[in-house]
Amino acid sequence: MKNKETVSGATTGKPQRQAEYFEDHRALQVILARVESTRDLDLLIPLLEELHRLLQMHFAREEAADGLQGIVAETAPHQLGHLQELMDQHDGFLTMLISLKQDIRSCLDGPTAKVFSDVQTLCDRLQTHEESETKLLTKALYTDLGESG
Ligand SMILES: [Fe+2]
Ligand SMILES: [Fe+2]
Repeated sequence: MKNKETVSGATTGKPQRQAEYFEDHRALQVILARVESTRDLDLLIPLLEELHRLLQMHFAREEAADGLQGIVAETAPHQLGHLQELMDQHDGFLTMLISLKQDIRSCLDGPTAKVFSDVQTLCDRLQTHEESETKLLTKALYTDLGESG
């Protein structure tokens, strides 16, 4: 991530940092499950905003000078290449999230708004139609019936 932030806890010891990564990954699993299961675009935007905020914090923690690289360099230096590949994916996820939020807003303001507007038009016209029939029927039964007999 290009815009590195100073995250509180960055100066804490290695065991605590390891615990933070596991805790971050658990929190991300929870929000990802919520994102995956929603089909409501209005709900999806705040969920994606929460995911975006969590990821920015989490990626900054992983990429910090004393972040994952220090731990892996010490415990499994042969994995540093793989770790770098994973770190290189971070910006792509954030870009995708921004693009997705824009797509959802476009849908809500465009096709989705039109569908709801058309539904409202249908309901209004049906309401008027049924009211007219009710009036006509009432008049026919209680007024015109007497005249025709
Ligand atoms: Fe992670
Ligand atoms: Fe990561």
